[in-house]
Amino acid sequence: MPSASSFGTVFLFGEHAVVYGFPALVASVDRKISVSAERNRRDTIRIRSSLGSATIRINDIGRAGGKLNYVIRAIHNTFQHIGKTGGMDVNIKSSLPPSSGLGTSSAVCVATIRAVSSAFDSSLEEKDLINLALKTERDIQGLASRAGVTCALFGGYWLIEGERATKIEAQGMEAVVGWSGIPSSTRKMVRFVGKLKEKQPVIVDVIFNGIGWLTRVGVNYLRSGNVERLGQLMNLNHALLASLKIVPPKIERMLQACWERGALGAKITGAGGGGCIIALGKTEKILKAIEETGGKAFKCKLGSTS
Ligand code: MEV
Repeated sequence: MPSASSFGTVFLFGEHAVVYGFPALVASVDRKISVSAERNRRDTIRIRSSLGSATIRINDIGRAGGKLNYVIRAIHNTFQHIGKTGGMDVNIKSSLPPSSGLGTSSAVCVATIRAVSSAFDSSLEEKDLINLALKTERDIQGLASRAGVTCALFGGYWLIEGERATKIEAQGMEAVVGWSGIPSSTRKMVRFVGKLKEKQPVIVDVIFNGIGWLTRVGVNYLRSGNVERLGQLMNLNHALLASLKIVPPKIERMLQACWERGALGAKITGAGGGGCIIALGKTEKILKAIEETGGKAFKCKLGSTS
Protein backbone atom coordinates (compact mmCIF):
# COMPACT_ATOMS: atom_id res chain seq x y z
CA MET A 1 0.00 0.00 0.00
CA PRO A 2 1.49 3.43 -0.92
CA SER A 3 2.59 5.29 2.17
CA ALA A 4 4.79 8.25 3.03
CA SER A 5 6.08 9.87 6.18
CA SER A 6 7.28 13.40 6.93
CA PHE A 7 9.18 15.09 9.74
CA GLY A 8 7.91 17.46 12.39
CA THR A 9 9.63 20.86 12.49
CA VAL A 10 10.82 23.32 15.11
CA PHE A 11 11.79 26.92 14.50
CA LEU A 12 15.17 27.74 16.02
CA PHE A 13 14.56 31.27 14.73
CA GLY A 14 12.22 33.27 12.57
CA GLU A 15 8.58 32.17 12.81
CA HIS A 16 6.06 34.80 11.68
CA ALA A 17 8.83 37.07 10.33
CA VAL A 18 9.51 34.41 7.65
CA VAL A 19 6.00 34.84 6.26
CA TYR A 20 7.00 38.42 5.31
CA GLY A 21 10.29 37.43 3.64
CA PHE A 22 12.66 37.64 6.65
CA PRO A 23 14.97 34.65 7.20
CA ALA A 24 14.12 31.68 9.44
CA LEU A 25 16.16 28.68 10.58
CA VAL A 26 14.23 25.44 11.06
CA ALA A 27 15.19 21.95 12.22
CA SER A 28 13.46 18.61 11.82
CA VAL A 29 12.57 16.58 14.91
CA ASP A 30 12.87 12.80 14.85
CA ARG A 31 9.10 12.35 15.10
CA LYS A 32 6.95 11.86 12.06
CA ILE A 33 3.48 11.75 10.53
CA SER A 34 2.79 8.76 8.28
CA VAL A 35 0.04 8.59 5.69
CA SER A 36 -1.07 5.52 3.74
CA ALA A 37 -3.43 5.78 0.78
CA GLU A 38 -5.13 2.87 -0.94
CA ARG A 39 -7.54 3.08 -3.85
CA ASN A 40 -11.02 1.57 -3.34
CA ARG A 41 -13.89 0.85 -5.72
CA ARG A 42 -16.33 3.23 -4.03
CA ASP A 43 -17.01 6.86 -4.91
CA THR A 44 -15.85 8.07 -1.50
CA ILE A 45 -12.66 9.07 0.25
CA ARG A 46 -12.44 7.70 3.75
CA ILE A 47 -9.96 9.37 6.09
CA ARG A 48 -8.98 8.03 9.49
CA SER A 49 -6.75 9.82 11.96
CA SER A 50 -6.36 10.49 15.67
CA LEU A 51 -8.12 13.86 15.06
CA GLY A 52 -11.22 12.09 13.79
CA SER A 53 -12.63 10.34 10.72
CA ALA A 54 -14.48 11.53 7.65
CA THR A 55 -16.10 9.98 4.60
CA ILE A 56 -16.41 12.39 1.67
CA ARG A 57 -17.86 11.84 -1.79
CA ILE A 58 -15.24 12.36 -4.50
CA ASN A 59 -17.26 15.18 -6.07
CA ASP A 60 -17.42 17.04 -2.74
CA ILE A 61 -13.71 16.91 -1.91
CA GLY A 62 -13.13 20.51 -3.12
CA ARG A 63 -15.81 21.85 -0.75
CA ALA A 64 -15.18 19.81 2.41
CA GLY A 65 -13.39 21.22 5.48
CA GLY A 66 -13.46 20.88 9.27
CA LYS A 67 -10.79 19.36 11.50
CA LEU A 68 -9.22 17.39 8.65
CA ASN A 69 -9.08 20.44 6.35
CA TYR A 70 -5.36 20.19 5.52
CA VAL A 71 -5.66 16.51 4.54
CA ILE A 72 -8.82 17.07 2.51
CA ARG A 73 -7.33 20.06 0.69
CA ALA A 74 -4.09 18.14 0.04
CA ILE A 75 -6.09 15.29 -1.57
CA HIS A 76 -8.11 17.77 -3.66
CA ASN A 77 -5.00 19.62 -4.83
CA THR A 78 -3.24 16.34 -5.68
CA PHE A 79 -6.22 15.18 -7.76
CA GLN A 80 -6.18 18.50 -9.64
CA HIS A 81 -2.42 18.38 -10.19
CA ILE A 82 -2.24 14.77 -11.47
CA GLY A 83 -5.55 15.02 -13.33
CA LYS A 84 -6.93 11.83 -11.76
CA THR A 85 -9.52 11.12 -9.06
CA GLY A 86 -10.91 8.01 -7.39
CA GLY A 87 -12.19 6.45 -4.17
CA MET A 88 -9.52 6.00 -1.50
CA ASP A 89 -8.88 4.91 2.06
CA VAL A 90 -6.43 7.29 3.71
CA ASN A 91 -4.98 6.49 7.14
CA ILE A 92 -2.89 8.90 9.16
CA LYS A 93 -0.65 8.03 12.08
CA SER A 94 1.25 10.65 14.03
CA SER A 95 3.85 10.66 16.78
CA LEU A 96 3.49 14.46 17.06
CA PRO A 97 0.86 16.14 19.26
CA PRO A 98 -1.87 17.65 16.99
CA SER A 99 -2.04 21.46 16.51
CA SER A 100 1.16 21.72 18.51
CA GLY A 101 3.20 24.17 16.45
CA LEU A 102 5.54 21.34 15.44
CA GLY A 103 4.78 21.68 11.75
CA THR A 104 2.05 19.04 11.84
CA SER A 105 0.04 20.70 9.06
CA SER A 106 3.09 20.85 6.77
CA ALA A 107 4.01 17.24 7.58
CA VAL A 108 0.50 15.96 6.93
CA CYS A 109 0.24 17.90 3.63
CA VAL A 110 3.57 16.57 2.33
CA ALA A 111 2.90 12.95 3.36
CA THR A 112 -0.69 12.99 2.03
CA ILE A 113 0.34 14.39 -1.37
CA ARG A 114 3.13 11.80 -1.66
CA ALA A 115 0.93 8.85 -0.65
CA VAL A 116 -2.07 9.86 -2.80
CA SER A 117 0.00 10.58 -5.91
CA SER A 118 1.83 7.26 -5.64
CA ALA A 119 -1.49 5.41 -5.18
CA PHE A 120 -2.29 6.73 -8.70
CA ASP A 121 1.22 5.84 -9.97
CA SER A 122 1.95 9.54 -10.49
CA SER A 123 5.28 10.26 -8.91
CA LEU A 124 5.86 13.96 -8.33
CA GLU A 125 9.17 15.75 -8.54
CA GLU A 126 10.32 17.16 -5.18
CA LYS A 127 9.86 20.72 -6.44
CA ASP A 128 6.22 20.04 -7.45
CA LEU A 129 5.54 18.24 -4.18
CA ILE A 130 6.81 21.21 -2.15
CA ASN A 131 4.83 23.69 -4.25
CA LEU A 132 1.64 21.65 -3.94
CA ALA A 133 2.03 21.31 -0.16
CA LEU A 134 2.69 25.05 0.08
CA LYS A 135 -0.37 25.83 -2.06
CA THR A 136 -2.43 23.62 0.28
CA GLU A 137 -1.21 25.54 3.34
CA ARG A 138 -1.80 28.88 1.63
CA ASP A 139 -5.34 27.81 0.57
CA ILE A 140 -6.14 27.22 4.24
CA GLN A 141 -4.04 29.77 6.13
CA GLY A 142 -3.81 32.59 3.60
CA LEU A 143 -0.10 33.12 4.30
CA ALA A 144 2.50 30.37 4.73
CA SER A 145 6.26 30.14 4.32
CA ARG A 146 8.33 27.33 2.76
CA ALA A 147 9.83 26.49 6.16
CA GLY A 148 7.48 23.72 7.32
CA VAL A 149 7.01 21.92 4.02
CA THR A 150 10.75 21.93 3.19
CA CYS A 151 11.73 20.56 6.59
CA ALA A 152 8.85 18.03 6.54
CA LEU A 153 10.05 16.57 3.23
CA PHE A 154 13.83 16.50 3.65
CA GLY A 155 14.54 16.74 7.38
CA GLY A 156 17.78 18.40 8.55
CA TYR A 157 18.36 22.13 9.06
CA TRP A 158 17.08 24.74 6.59
CA LEU A 159 17.53 28.46 6.19
CA ILE A 160 14.43 29.88 4.53
CA GLU A 161 14.34 33.34 3.03
CA GLY A 162 11.37 34.23 0.86
CA GLU A 163 11.06 31.55 -1.81
CA ARG A 164 14.67 30.36 -1.26
CA ALA A 165 15.52 27.32 0.89
CA THR A 166 19.18 26.56 1.73
CA LYS A 167 20.26 23.37 3.47
CA ILE A 168 22.53 24.01 6.45
CA GLU A 169 25.10 21.34 7.23
CA ALA A 170 25.40 20.95 11.01
CA GLN A 171 25.55 18.25 13.67
CA GLY A 172 22.35 16.69 15.04
CA MET A 173 21.50 18.09 18.48
CA GLU A 174 19.62 16.77 21.51
CA ALA A 175 16.79 19.03 22.62
CA VAL A 176 13.58 18.95 24.61
CA VAL A 177 10.14 19.77 23.26
CA GLY A 178 7.54 20.89 25.81
CA TRP A 179 3.87 20.63 24.80
CA SER A 180 1.59 23.06 26.64
CA GLY A 181 -1.55 21.06 25.84
CA ILE A 182 -3.07 24.29 24.41
CA PRO A 183 -3.87 23.78 20.71
CA SER A 184 -2.36 26.35 18.38
CA SER A 185 -4.09 27.46 15.16
CA THR A 186 -1.55 28.68 12.60
CA ARG A 187 -4.32 30.31 10.54
CA LYS A 188 -5.59 32.29 13.51
CA MET A 189 -2.14 33.35 14.74
CA VAL A 190 -0.87 34.38 11.30
CA ARG A 191 -3.97 36.61 10.99
CA PHE A 192 -3.44 37.97 14.49
CA VAL A 193 0.14 39.01 13.71
CA GLY A 194 -0.98 40.37 10.32
CA LYS A 195 -3.49 42.67 12.08
CA LEU A 196 -0.86 43.82 14.58
CA LYS A 197 1.44 44.62 11.64
CA GLU A 198 -1.31 46.73 10.05
CA LYS A 199 -1.94 48.61 13.30
CA GLN A 200 1.71 49.08 14.32
CA PRO A 201 3.80 48.72 11.15
CA VAL A 202 6.92 50.43 12.50
CA ILE A 203 7.09 48.40 15.72
CA VAL A 204 6.45 45.09 13.98
CA ASP A 205 9.05 45.93 11.34
CA VAL A 206 11.62 46.57 14.10
CA ILE A 207 10.70 43.21 15.67
CA PHE A 208 10.95 41.32 12.37
CA ASN A 209 14.28 42.96 11.48
CA GLY A 210 15.60 41.96 14.91
CA ILE A 211 14.44 38.39 14.33
CA GLY A 212 16.12 38.44 10.91
CA TRP A 213 19.45 39.48 12.48
CA LEU A 214 19.23 36.78 15.14
CA THR A 215 18.55 34.18 12.45
CA ARG A 216 21.56 35.17 10.34
CA VAL A 217 23.93 35.10 13.31
CA GLY A 218 22.28 31.90 14.61
CA VAL A 219 23.14 30.05 11.37
CA ASN A 220 26.86 30.62 12.04
CA TYR A 221 26.63 29.32 15.62
CA LEU A 222 24.65 26.28 14.44
CA ARG A 223 27.32 25.50 11.81
CA SER A 224 30.14 25.82 14.33
CA GLY A 225 28.25 23.81 16.98
CA ASN A 226 28.32 26.66 19.54
CA VAL A 227 25.18 25.61 21.43
CA GLU A 228 25.71 28.16 24.20
CA ARG A 229 25.64 31.15 21.84
CA LEU A 230 22.86 29.57 19.76
CA GLY A 231 20.80 29.26 22.94
CA GLN A 232 21.39 32.91 23.91
CA LEU A 233 20.12 34.03 20.53
CA MET A 234 17.06 31.76 20.84
CA ASN A 235 16.23 33.42 24.18
CA LEU A 236 16.41 36.81 22.45
CA ASN A 237 14.20 35.57 19.62
CA HIS A 238 11.68 34.46 22.23
CA ALA A 239 11.64 37.93 23.79
CA LEU A 240 10.81 39.44 20.39
CA LEU A 241 8.05 36.87 19.78
CA ALA A 242 6.62 37.63 23.23
CA SER A 243 6.40 41.30 22.22
CA LEU A 244 4.07 40.19 19.38
CA LYS A 245 1.69 38.99 22.16
CA ILE A 246 1.53 35.41 20.90
CA VAL A 247 2.83 33.70 24.06
CA PRO A 248 0.22 32.49 26.58
CA PRO A 249 1.06 32.53 30.33
CA LYS A 250 1.41 28.73 30.55
CA ILE A 251 4.13 28.77 27.89
CA GLU A 252 5.92 31.60 29.75
CA ARG A 253 5.81 29.49 32.95
CA MET A 254 7.24 26.49 31.11
CA LEU A 255 10.06 28.61 29.69
CA GLN A 256 10.79 30.27 33.03
CA ALA A 257 11.15 26.81 34.59
CA CYS A 258 13.60 25.79 31.83
CA TRP A 259 15.73 28.92 32.30
CA GLU A 260 15.75 28.47 36.10
CA ARG A 261 17.10 24.92 35.57
CA GLY A 262 19.92 26.23 33.42
CA ALA A 263 18.56 25.79 29.88
CA LEU A 264 21.05 27.30 27.41
CA GLY A 265 18.22 28.46 25.18
CA ALA A 266 14.45 28.12 25.14
CA LYS A 267 11.67 29.65 23.10
CA ILE A 268 8.17 29.12 21.82
CA THR A 269 8.19 27.38 18.44
CA GLY A 270 5.71 27.86 15.60
CA ALA A 271 2.70 30.11 15.40
CA GLY A 272 2.10 30.51 19.15
CA GLY A 273 -1.17 31.12 20.98
CA GLY A 274 -0.38 27.74 22.60
CA GLY A 275 1.58 24.83 21.20
CA CYS A 276 5.15 23.92 22.12
CA ILE A 277 8.48 25.21 23.33
CA ILE A 278 11.92 24.04 22.26
CA ALA A 279 14.75 24.02 24.79
CA LEU A 280 18.50 23.29 24.60
CA GLY A 281 20.66 22.25 27.54
CA LYS A 282 20.73 19.43 30.10
CA THR A 283 17.79 17.38 28.83
CA GLU A 284 16.87 15.47 32.03
CA LYS A 285 16.67 18.67 34.11
CA ILE A 286 14.66 20.45 31.43
CA LEU A 287 12.22 17.53 31.04
CA LYS A 288 11.56 17.62 34.78
CA ALA A 289 11.20 21.41 34.86
CA ILE A 290 8.57 21.37 32.11
CA GLU A 291 6.61 18.55 33.68
CA GLU A 292 6.54 20.34 37.05
CA THR A 293 4.69 23.23 35.39
CA GLY A 294 2.05 20.84 33.98
CA GLY A 295 3.45 20.62 30.46
CA LYS A 296 4.29 17.36 28.68
CA ALA A 297 7.87 16.98 27.52
CA PHE A 298 9.87 14.67 25.28
CA LYS A 299 13.47 14.46 24.19
CA CYS A 300 14.18 14.76 20.51
CA LYS A 301 17.04 14.85 18.08
CA LEU A 302 17.16 17.99 15.95
CA GLY A 303 18.36 17.88 12.37
CA SER A 304 17.55 14.19 11.68
CA THR A 305 17.20 13.16 8.08
CA SER A 306 16.06 9.55 8.64
C1 MEV B 1 3.96 28.27 11.83
O1 MEV B 1 4.47 26.99 12.16
C2 MEV B 1 5.09 29.20 11.50
C3 MEV B 1 4.64 30.52 10.86
O2 MEV B 1 5.84 31.26 10.60
C4 MEV B 1 3.87 30.29 9.57
C5 MEV B 1 4.72 29.79 8.41
O3 MEV B 1 5.96 29.88 8.45
O4 MEV B 1 4.10 29.34 7.44
C6 MEV B 1 3.80 31.33 11.81
